[in-house]
Amino acid sequence: MSKIGTALVILVSAGVTFGALTLWQNIQDRKAEGREVTFAVGSIAEDTDDPAAWKSNFPRQYDSYLHTADIARTRYGGSEALSKVSGDTPWTTLWAGYPFSVDYREERGHAYMLDDQRETERVKQFKQPGACLHCHASVIPAYVKAGVAAGVPASDRAAAIEKGFEAVCAMPYADATKLVAHPVSCMDCHDPATMALRVTRPGFLHGIAALASSDEALAHLPSIGAWRASDRATPYDPNALASRQEMRTFVCAQCHVEYHFRGPDKYLVYPWKNGIDIEDEERYYDEIGFKDWTHQITGASMLKGQHPEFEMWNQGVHAQSGVACADCHMPYVREGAIKVSSHHVQSPLLDVNRSCQTCHRQDEAEIQRRVADIQGRTRHLMDLAENANLDLVAAIRAAIEAGVPAERLANARELHRKAQWRLDWVNAENSMGFHAPGESLRILGESIDLARQGVTDAERARAAPTTAMSGAR
Ligand code: HEC
Ligand code: HEC
Ligand code: HEC
Ligand code: HEC
Ligand code: HEC
Repeated sequence: MSKIGTALVILVSAGVTFGALTLWQNIQDRKAEGREVTFAVGSIAEDTDDPAAWKSNFPRQYDSYLHTADIARTRYGGSEALSKVSGDTPWTTLWAGYPFSVDYREERGHAYMLDDQRETERVKQFKQPGACLHCHASVIPAYVKAGVAAGVPASDRAAAIEKGFEAVCAMPYADATKLVAHPVSCMDCHDPATMALRVTRPGFLHGIAALASSDEALAHLPSIGAWRASDRATPYDPNALASRQEMRTFVCAQCHVEYHFRGPDKYLVYPWKNGIDIEDEERYYDEIGFKDWTHQITGASMLKGQHPEFEMWNQGVHAQSGVACADCHMPYVREGAIKVSSHHVQSPLLDVNRSCQTCHRQDEAEIQRRVADIQGRTRHLMDLAENANLDLVAAIRAAIEAGVPAERLANARELHRKAQWRLDWVNAENSMGFHAPGESLRILGESIDLARQGVTDAERARAAPTTAMSGAR
């Protein structure tokens, strides 16, 4: 072998050895990281609501969770608490007589949920119940304590939570909020003993059990099949029966849903008995004769939609393809050899690479363009629906001012309730149509139609001679 040849062999083998060593070190690092992911499970006590206490066991998840305090904007979303009812907006008229007309903001990260609730004018200027806390705090320990205080033995944890939930719902907000200290926390979605996903919120557990108790209602949830097989002898329990992929949506559906307070005790209920389409929820409210408020201008018995993300998602192609909330809002982040779920829950448009490009091969600009198209179409139809609803308010106002008796406006008022509920539902849903583009446009189209019918009705009532009974159809 020539000298050069020998030197080459030495160099190459040194290179190979060096490479092998580096690789070996990498593997060791990764194995260590792998061990770290599972270590110390079980050492956290139940009811540890302070996320900082979970930090030493799960530093990566904890660090990304802290990022929910970050502030970044997108066109229709993002994390800045901009007012949605200041300046020139139809909503001060559409919500006349309701606290939302006073203060309603763009929502922001989970880190702020408790502070934003305590600070909103809807709480400061109006009397609100403890039921509000259900979705704005790590509230389960407070329920347990209140349940035990009401006489349930601490050994029956489930019963204590139920009793405490009932008691806290009925308390004045100012008293109830003293019982909690943290926004949504680890224990709300994880069993500390196993770290398995779990759902803890009574409102969700009752709602999903009501939904699962009838085939007819279930038919409205095509994305989730396992329920049909579940044993109807006992109420449906997602913690025992749901698949892991379903749980990756259910943990979010604990809060991102339509709700109402039932009766004088402000008992929190999700209106899912008939299904979770917008029409199912409306039918439920009609059946129990519910209204959120009486419209100050038209006198109609109104419904207010609240963040129906779970319901709207259920109507979209992603739900029907088995894509969960966490797939887009908590994508995996690779750290060394391990994949960590990002706990920086935020707008996926701020992280398209991890949130979308795992499944979609288009480049980022193309993906952003497709979302912008969907959101632009929704926004446009929403503008038309807002105008139609404003025209309806004006038409009923004109009829009232012209002295048309109330009974002849019953039909126009009913149409106002229906038309605005549809507009409001899409408006309150926070994806500007993205979660279910077709469904969003369908609902807005119906809102426009119902509002225009209402205008015709109110004008007819006004034009008719006062003795005629032409208002009702
Ligand atoms: C296929 C991906 C995908 C899935 C699945 C998905 N979302 Fe979204 N979500 C989005 C996109 C895209 C937006 C629009 C963000 C924007 O406009 O900045 C959005 C917006 C939101 C917003 C408003 C965010 C903001 O910054 O204003 C919330 C809240 C939300 N989604 C919750 C949910 C919940 C809860 C589920 C499950 C029931 C879910 N999403 C399922 C992609 C998804
Ligand atoms: C305990 C109730 C609760 C749970 C559980 C919950 N959220 Fe939220 N979420 C909220 C509240 C309340 C806000 C608004 C906070 C604010 O504006 O101060 C919010 C805000 C958001 C935002 C807006 C963030 C931003 O930066 O603007 C997104 C996106 C979101 N949630 C998605 C999800 C997803 C996905 C899940 C499940 C992995 C989930 N949430 C679980 C209550 C909850
Ligand atoms: C069923 C769960 C749930 C209940 C109950 C609930 N919220 Fe929320 N709240 C949310 C979610 C989810 C968001 C974020 C999405 C949004 O803003 O539409 C939110 C956002 C908010 C915000 C920030 C955006 C805004 O609307 O200005 C405030 C303030 C707020 N809620 C106050 C309240 C008050 C007051 C009550 C009681 C009357 C209440 N919440 C009850 C789930 C809930
Ligand atoms: C709103 C619900 C929610 C909250 C709050 C939450 N997590 Fe998670 N967490 C999830 C979801 C969803 C996954 C994905 C689980 C899966 O796919 O099995 C996850 C996964 C995990 C995992 C498994 C490894 C991984 O990264 O996928 C760990 C560990 C974890 N979370 C720790 C925490 C800690 C610590 C906190 C509090 C600082 C926390 N989580 C708060 C929903 C939540
Ligand atoms: C886990 C995989 C997965 C993720 C993550 C995902 N998608 Fe999808 N997406 C799908 C599937 C599957 C379909 C349906 C395709 C079909 O049936 O033709 C789809 C369809 C779509 C469509 C067509 C919508 C329609 O109603 O026809 C758009 C737009 C889209 N995705 C955008 C996004 C964006 C933006 C993100 C990130 C925020 C995202 N997707 C994240 C799997 C995913």
